Amino acid sequence: MARLNTQVGIVGAGPAGLLLAHLLHLNGIDSVVIENRSREHVIDRVRAGVLEQGTVDLLVAMGVGDGALRRGLRHEGLYISFKGRRHRIDMAELTGGKAITVYGQNEVVKDLIDARAATGRRLYFEAAHVSVDGLDASQPIIRFEHDGTDHELGCDFIAGCDGFHGICRPSIPDGALTVYERIYPFGWLGLLVEAAPSSDELVYTHHERGFALFSMRSPAVTRLYFQVPPDEPIQHWSDAAIWDELLARMTTSDGWKPNIGRIVQKSVTPMRSFVATPMRHARLFLAGDAAHIVPPTGAKGLNLAASDVLVLARALKAFYEHRREEWLDEYSDVCLRRVWKAQRFSWWMTSTLHHSPDGSAFDHQRQIADLDYLTSSRAAMTSLAEQYVGLPADVSLDSVGL
Ligand code: APR
Ligand code: PHB
Repeated sequence: MARLNTQVGIVGAGPAGLLLAHLLHLNGIDSVVIENRSREHVIDRVRAGVLEQGTVDLLVAMGVGDGALRRGLRHEGLYISFKGRRHRIDMAELTGGKAITVYGQNEVVKDLIDARAATGRRLYFEAAHVSVDGLDASQPIIRFEHDGTDHELGCDFIAGCDGFHGICRPSIPDGALTVYERIYPFGWLGLLVEAAPSSDELVYTHHERGFALFSMRSPAVTRLYFQVPPDEPIQHWSDAAIWDELLARMTTSDGWKPNIGRIVQKSVTPMRSFVATPMRHARLFLAGDAAHIVPPTGAKGLNLAASDVLVLARALKAFYEHRREEWLDEYSDVCLRRVWKAQRFSWWMTSTLHHSPDGSAFDHQRQIADLDYLTSSRAAMTSLAEQYVGLPADVSLDSVGL
């Protein structure tokens, strides 16, 4: 049995865990990151790809933003397509120059793993049987097995950054959490395609056959999604059927459509909205997908993980430097104000753009009116733009020493 100690034990090496680890490092706070999957799995996993302006600013201030600035694609606008027409929303003009950056979450994770390695601080991949214990005690413990040896890690605090299916949230005693949830009657079939993007900006399409989304990863790779039933077996969709469906939904009356290419990856993800409150139990702090899930239509998941850990890093810094606990106590409330606004936005984007199998003709007309209003009112476009690029941060970069 190996016995170890650290200040903050971090479960999960996704964006939340790795960003937190680096923010703590920059403030001289030690942490150990424990991840149950392999380094290759974590880096190769295809996930979301939209970074808010504030997320890019955070990465840059932390010294890990070179990849996002150099290889990321800055977008100052997006398209909303309905009734066969694309309508551009000029985000930068409506928000005083803000934009989003398209940069794969797996690239962000790779950059952060490299940064972690350069600090010499500990990060375990392929940890088995991870569990947390003694959350109410002065020194909670993370247990795990690594390379055939049992480990016991004593911590001042534990950060549960282990995603929606992790072990931290279920380790909180029954009755201590309140869960709010909505499960949608559809999912997304996502594709990675070897084809040059046929538009410089994202296209969100409303169509009576169902929602479709055009995105990209690089000048040679297009990312596409379309609405399917939530439990749709992927083998129901041949490549030919996929292209027929995508072109039927996406082609606009001016002839715009995505370029066709070799499909290199495809998968189906169900969609849900989920919030567990409070985001803290005694010495365990939940961050990112461990505490909340948004449907991907608002492109907020990764950005919420970043804003949570910024709030947590500020609180831990104040604790270690001044023994101040108020920001630890306020952690959940500060995060949840932003989380609920992102939930509301993601729900609105989802319910306005998708075809609901139990929706009526009235619902369809209301959606069209919503989209007509959105694309013809400067006030409505400004509202979408300011939420899409990211609402102002709740804590400043200098409160975490940046
Ligand atoms: N022990 C250790 N690690 C675990 C365990 C466990 N029992 N269970 C899960 N993990 C790891 C996962 O393998 C993953 O690497 O925790 C990490 C959680 O990462 P994410 O799921 O990416 O969650 P988070 O860091 O909160 O980032 C949120 O991810 O799913 C997207 O849309 C979401 O973009 C958002 C982002
Ligand atoms: C993506 O590029 O993966 C992406 C873009 C926008 C979304 C969701 C996913 O809303």
